[in-house]
Formats: sequence, C-alpha cells, structure tokens
Amino acid sequence: MPAYAVIGGQWGDEGKGKVIDYLAGNVDSVVRYAGGNNAGHTVVNEKGTFQLHLVPSGICWPDVYGIIGNGVVVDPDVLVNELAEIGARGIDTSKLVISERAHVIMPYHVVLDALEEEARGDAAIGTTGRGIGPAYMDKTGRMGIRIGDLLDWEALVPMVTQVLEHKNALITKVYGGKALALDDVLAKCRIWADHMAPYAMATEQLVQDLLSQNKRVLLEGAQGTLLDIDHGSYPYVTSSSPSIGGACTGLGLNPQAIKGVLGVFKAYSTRVGSGPMPSEITDDEAEEIREKAQEFGVTTGRARRIGWFDGVAAKYSQLINGFTGIVLTRLDILDEFDSVKVCVGYEVSGERLDRFPANTGLLARCKPVFEEMPGWDKPTASATELSQLPENALAYVHKIEELVGCRAQIISTGPSRAETIQVEPVFT
Ligand code: IMP
Repeated sequence: MPAYAVIGGQWGDEGKGKVIDYLAGNVDSVVRYAGGNNAGHTVVNEKGTFQLHLVPSGICWPDVYGIIGNGVVVDPDVLVNELAEIGARGIDTSKLVISERAHVIMPYHVVLDALEEEARGDAAIGTTGRGIGPAYMDKTGRMGIRIGDLLDWEALVPMVTQVLEHKNALITKVYGGKALALDDVLAKCRIWADHMAPYAMATEQLVQDLLSQNKRVLLEGAQGTLLDIDHGSYPYVTSSSPSIGGACTGLGLNPQAIKGVLGVFKAYSTRVGSGPMPSEITDDEAEEIREKAQEFGVTTGRARRIGWFDGVAAKYSQLINGFTGIVLTRLDILDEFDSVKVCVGYEVSGERLDRFPANTGLLARCKPVFEEMPGWDKPTASATELSQLPENALAYVHKIEELVGCRAQIISTGPSRAETIQVEPVFT
C-alpha cells in the first residue's frame, strides 16, 4: 500500500495533529520526517487532550507504529518526558521507534539558539529556542551527533570532545557566553544512550517493509511549507524541509511510494515569530480570532499573528507540494463574522503581483488585495456532514478550493476527532 502525506500548507499550526489523529485509525504507521520539538501538535479524542512535540500524532491508536525518521532532530530529554507523560495517561507507547540516523539536539544547540537570536537583535527570527537551527547546522556541517552515535560509547567520546571544543570557542569567544563542561555533556549522553537504545533502529527499512507488506504509511508534516528552509520566507523560516521533498529525504522514502499529499490549511492565516505575512491583520477582528481560536503557540505560548486566508501563498504551497487534496481546518472560528476576507493577490508600488516572491524585502512590501465575502448565519461548529454547512460557508470553502486549485477532502469543524466532515475519501 502506498504512503500518504499530511503537510502544513501555511506557516505551521494548521491543525495537523487533529488531522493525523483522525486519519490514523485507518493506517498502520504514522511517521514524522522533519523538525523537532519546535512542533506542537494538539490531539483531542476520547482519551483526552494531548500536546505532542516529538511523538507522532497517531500514538493514541494502539496498533499504529509511531516512527521518528532520520530527518527529525531529537532532544532525548523532551522525548523521554513526553513518553512518560502520555504513558501515565494510559497510552501504549510500545510501538514507537526512532531512526538511528536522526540527529540529537545537544545541550550546546539550545545554548547557541538563544545566543544567536540575541546577537541578531532586531533581525531576530523569533525561534522557539529549542536548539533546532543549531542542530540542523551541525548536521549539514557534518559535526552532528546521531541517535546511533549515542549507542557507540567508544566512538562517541572523541566526537563529543572535539565538537564541544569548537562549540565552546563559539559560545565564549564570539558570544561571550559560558562554556559547557565536557563531563556534564558526556554524562547526559550516557543517560540518553540508555533511554534511546530500546527505540533506535533502521527506520528506512521498517517503512519500506511496511509498504511492501501492503501496510498504509501516513507521513506527518511538522511546521508548514512557508517555513521551509528552501521554499519558505527565508531567512524567517525553520531549518528543515516541512514540504513534501522533506518526506523523501527525511525518511529515505522514494517519491513513487507517495500516492496522496494532503495540504492542511486553516480557514484564515496565522504565523508565530518574525517575517513578512502579507495578509496579516492587526485590528479588532484579529483579536477576535485570536481569542476565539486561542491562537497561542503550543510550544512557546506566544500569541500568534493573525491574517485572512492568503490565496497567493496557498497557490505557491500547492506548486511546491502538488497537493492531491485539501484539509480545511478551523472553519468554525469564522462563524459569527458578518463578512470574511480572502487575499486574492498582492500589490507592490501600485503593481499587481500574483506570485509569492522569493525576495523577503519584496514580500514585506506586498500589500494584500482582499476580496470580501458574506459571513454565514448558521454555525458550522461540530458539523459532520457537508449538507449541514450554510450556503455562504460552502461558498467560502469553494473559494479556497479555487485559490489553491485543489478539492477539499476533509473539513474540520472543531478540535475533537468527531468534529470532522469527510467530503471524499483520502485513501484510494
Ligand atoms: P525554529 O524552528 O525554532 O528555529 O524557529 C524558526 C521559525 O519557525 C520561528 O518563526 C518559529 O516561530 C517558527 N516555528 C517553528 N516551529 C513552528 C511550529 O511548529 N509552528 C509554527 N511556527 C513554528
């Protein structure tokens, strides 16, 4: 059976956790391929509310493998705590595995994340402070420590010794910070080795075996396409590849194995951290959406920036990912608005621009061209059938489909698993 991907179509926080939990009842494995504990996926079902950062969002289904692929960066402390927390709430975590090729977020990565942000001053990215960027820098700089390395003590000690020397020079001489003690870092590695050993394996082989046994694999995106290191609003991006290409490199999966690519879009836009966001609004309507939707980061608690749905960015996202279907989330948040807006184009110095520009300065100068649509008189909250949607809400859904160029297969009308409209089958 093939693999299906669930990808953030915007700046992350589109509600992928809920979508994965909803779909995971019909798959055999859920696989994270990128990012780390900068992600915050909220899952609400009959077992409770779970805020997951590293553990794949299918974990509440006992027969489903949870796989953390090689493209993920892993902070073992966070993972161990998360597993303990959900385990204590009765969730079976015995089907979790981690790629031995996944890179470890080391203590100096977290320290450097903070120091680098401070040094950027006004140009700070607004990172989550979890050491994500520095860990990916070491991966491409070929000085990373991988989960598999933790399990080879003889080889690990000289590696960590050498890398820490370099990192301490950076921390103290460039940033004026405090050096980390080698003994402390090695002691952490000792503990992590014990904790990670039962989970570490060749996940690329496991994924391949599952596919060849006709098992269904669900690829869980973290963050969103507009935060992609290559395709996002650089440099205000994360350091991994949340878009579809990242699923191949982040798992060792060939592209032919992927049959469906679901793009998850919120019915409006949000963004955490710095960087341009052309359809951003800062008026009372933004506040109303933020409060009603509780748009505060799961990982950092920061207030999310709010904007109307950005059709230009969404179309670009479709171009990068080749979505075969859309999941539209949080439609219910727009209930009660007299009218809603969608951004259908940009304007720069009086000229119309209908594409998402690569140049960050240009993107920052883009003014949104909004189209206003009438609100709907009946709530969509908790609807489970398309026929329950008021006419104007349906027109809004169709407008988004037209802007993205792809049909909505699922519409989410509330946080829990049950509050979902399955418009058409995802798995074909
Ligand atoms: P980093 O991934 O912590 O390096 O942060 C880089 C940028 O990505 C910052 O603007 C973060 O706010 C943003 N970011 C990282 N992870 C998420 C996420 O899961 N949701 C939304 N924004 C994120």
